[in-house]
Amino acid sequence: MTGAIMLGFTAAAASPLDIIPMPVSVEVTSAQHTYNGDELKIDIGSKAFAQKTAGLEDFAKEAAYELRITKNRITVKANAELGVFYAMQSLNQMLGRLRPEDKPSCTVLQCCRIFDYPRFPYRGLMIDTSRYLRSKEFLLRQIDVMALMKMSVLHLHLTDDEGWRMQIDRYPRLTAEASHRWCFDWDTWRKAGRRLVPEGTPGAYGGYYTKDDLREIIAYAETKHITVIPEIEMPGHSAEVFKTYTELACTSLRHTMERQKDPTAKRNAKGELVEEGTFRLWDLCPGKDATFEFLENVLDEVMEVFPSKLIHIGGDEAIKKAWTECDDCKKRMQELGIETVDELQSYFIKRIEKFVNSRGRRIIGWNEILKGGLAPDATVMSWQGISGGLKAIELDHDVVMCPEEYCYLDRYQDNPDNCPRAFRTYVPLSKTYSFEPASETIPKDRLHHLLGVQGNLWAEFVPTDSHAEYMLYPRAFAIAETGWSQPEKKEYEGFRRRATLLENLIVSYGYNAFDLKTEMGAPTGPMVETY
Ligand code: ACM
Ligand code: ZN
Repeated sequence: MTGAIMLGFTAAAASPLDIIPMPVSVEVTSAQHTYNGDELKIDIGSKAFAQKTAGLEDFAKEAAYELRITKNRITVKANAELGVFYAMQSLNQMLGRLRPEDKPSCTVLQCCRIFDYPRFPYRGLMIDTSRYLRSKEFLLRQIDVMALMKMSVLHLHLTDDEGWRMQIDRYPRLTAEASHRWCFDWDTWRKAGRRLVPEGTPGAYGGYYTKDDLREIIAYAETKHITVIPEIEMPGHSAEVFKTYTELACTSLRHTMERQKDPTAKRNAKGELVEEGTFRLWDLCPGKDATFEFLENVLDEVMEVFPSKLIHIGGDEAIKKAWTECDDCKKRMQELGIETVDELQSYFIKRIEKFVNSRGRRIIGWNEILKGGLAPDATVMSWQGISGGLKAIELDHDVVMCPEEYCYLDRYQDNPDNCPRAFRTYVPLSKTYSFEPASETIPKDRLHHLLGVQGNLWAEFVPTDSHAEYMLYPRAFAIAETGWSQPEKKEYEGFRRRATLLENLIVSYGYNAFDLKTEMGAPTGPMVETY
């Protein structure tokens, strides 16, 4: 089988109308170009192209390109190197190859002129590396596909209750003692009381990225114009920190920590203690200065490795219940003259923001950071619907939209009869594709605060790298197109056809995408709650 047929180009030539994301404009002529590794004619910074893109926002100007394929020549025009890079990604897809250095699988190209630029600057994917560790090689491989889809941000969720995944020189115990769990399977682990064990424990599962690993990932992403944003969770989702630094927990959690060690203690089906006087181990203590000293030292090392302007500080799902009974939290609230734990979380995030700003960076956090008062310079990542994002825009803050109903790639992408266990709800490709981030309620003069969209791959039910690819693709294609293409260009049936072609391409490189051809469709009954 020839590459051209394998990739679904049943017509003789690869068409620019088959690529993802759909460009702003495509003109096709009847001629064909036979590609022989031609040198492209590249024209950066011409007055004419600057004029053509004059009305665009700066980020779009920088990324804009024109790719012209005639019988004898391929020409690229752009304002900057970034535009040339994106033109190359369009060409790569037409040639049926992943990277410019790969051999094309289709060398007959339809002659055309593509004019293109992104709708949003932020076109992201989040990968959870805590619930199951993703290998460095996996991350490098996804960067290749992200580049092919013209995505711009890889957000790494690096810390959570299931394990601390980044080497921190000042606190080596974080990785020595809090990066492994006693068994591989997440569900078994949590039901048995969420025990972490030291590195090297026989049978233990886990691991972490060294700073060199992370630098390699960041440097590779940079060559593909992808920014890697680190996420260090706080104040919630931080139980792994207590494994090593119990002094950062609320005084109200001392009893819980003792009971946690007792295998006969009363627990619910999820393995959580349900005895009187116990709380869920989860939130760092905002009443202790030691908490901030710890986080600032950690963040200093994080920022030394990650050059991104935005540093993700989590902020989601803090329970805050232990705070109400903690001597240090109560004292802090008294000193601050505040009465609610939401305000205490707001104090926590604002204090961290001040520190991050002092290092020339800015924070981004999940939408719960709106509660109790948003930190003055924070960017909000809206996951519980889009209302948090809309509120933040109203307050003149930047926003990334990733509502779980559309953008959570850990959910079932097909009828549960046709896929392995996933998280809670049904989010098929069509649903992800249907997401429109720019609500009509956003005033025009505030639309610039809408930075873009992101797909999130949480990993509670994603045990292997191969399974992670199965969850990512093709839904990540939909995220990429929503982030790049103009809304009037979006149309599901055509996209689905193009998605099968792009799936074929990445599958030919060994990626384990969900096979759209096998899609059964919506479950006939209610979804079973599986979490
Ligand atoms: C989240 O899904 N807890 C951000
Ligand atoms: Zn406390």
